[in-house]
Amino acid sequence: MKFPVEQFQGVRTPFYYYDRKLLEQTLDVINREAARYAGFHVHYAVKANVDPTVLGIVNAAGLGCDCVSGGEVEVCLKAGFPASKVVFAGVGKADWEINLALDADIACFNVESAPELDVINELAQAKGKVARVALRVNPNVDAHTHHYITTGLSENKFGISMDMLDMIVQHAHSLPNISFEGLHFHIGSQILDLQPFVDLCNTVNRLQDELAAKGVKIRTINVGGGLGCDYEHPDEHPIPDFASYFKIFAEHLVLHRDQELHFELGRSVVCQCGALISRVLYVKEGVKKKFVILDAGMSDLIRPALYEAHHNIENITAPANGPKEKYDVVGPICESSDTFGKDEVLPVTRRGDLVALRSAGAYGQIMASNYNCRRIPSSLVL
Ligand code: LLP
Repeated sequence: MKFPVEQFQGVRTPFYYYDRKLLEQTLDVINREAARYAGFHVHYAVKANVDPTVLGIVNAAGLGCDCVSGGEVEVCLKAGFPASKVVFAGVGKADWEINLALDADIACFNVESAPELDVINELAQAKGKVARVALRVNPNVDAHTHHYITTGLSENKFGISMDMLDMIVQHAHSLPNISFEGLHFHIGSQILDLQPFVDLCNTVNRLQDELAAKGVKIRTINVGGGLGCDYEHPDEHPIPDFASYFKIFAEHLVLHRDQELHFELGRSVVCQCGALISRVLYVKEGVKKKFVILDAGMSDLIRPALYEAHHNIENITAPANGPKEKYDVVGPICESSDTFGKDEVLPVTRRGDLVALRSAGAYGQIMASNYNCRRIPSSLVL
């Protein structure tokens, strides 16, 4: 990624920089690859990034959106996404959130339990509406990803277990203000080995056959998100391999007549187009180490502290071909986990240099907090 450093002058650090062109190219590839197959629909999982300009670009590309809170539903509607393309998941939807989504007439609730189904039915009844729902099934597929971001195992809190599915489908059919649309799945995030998606397809096929044998009609299948990004080599792989990803579903998932297949991609859409730009406050000599102390900390980008996630670190001020040194790159927050990289080899770094933390477009800015009474970082889309 080539950073327009001259345009960063005068912008208060730390801030998130988003490369508009890369985002648009990524969306073009998604649209082109999904369009190869009839009935494929892509939603953007807005939890990854709700920057208004980013949302505007995603909406302009025609993707729908996947929300996990009433706040996200509001943000999407405000950004201009049509309610008919909004789906709403989450294990704990509060009544006000359900009411808000009913009022907006969203496309579908992804329902995660029997009691939630009853509450949606009741609230829809009070409004004289019929809510479209898909049941989120826990497919017990191992996504082989970080244990904090795996969701499709039976030990996770998400979805309805396969043993109970049949009973809950019958129950959904018995409720007057519920329209049963289909099944929803999500196995986890940052998945680079695509085999778990094949496993998911096989499970979906089996469940579909079992339900079809009982005469249950399924209009939509939603397979969630999860496609990962190359955090180690963002310049070699700026756009995830959407071609292989969609092909897996085209080859392994048996769609019945007129069925729609929905996807909810978050990370893979926005990860590589974003970077957290920070300024070096001090270079400090330790006993055995040198520390680069940034003005960005875990309150701005929590992924390294929370998941031991790796983000490439680049000094975008110092000439790349000059002499190098080894540093621990840390933030200013009073926690040892406020560390972005250890023994990083960087060009000789000085106070005032700008540093980019790469691949931070997904789950970066949106997970920022006010910890230590720090400001939420702003953004710049160029
Ligand atoms: N659909 C559902 C129901 C989800 O729970 C998620 C993500 C997605 C779609 C989008 O998944 P993606 O395509 O982005 O992998 N904060 C963590 C990631 C948490 C993901 C939670 N669910 C991180 O920074 O790695």
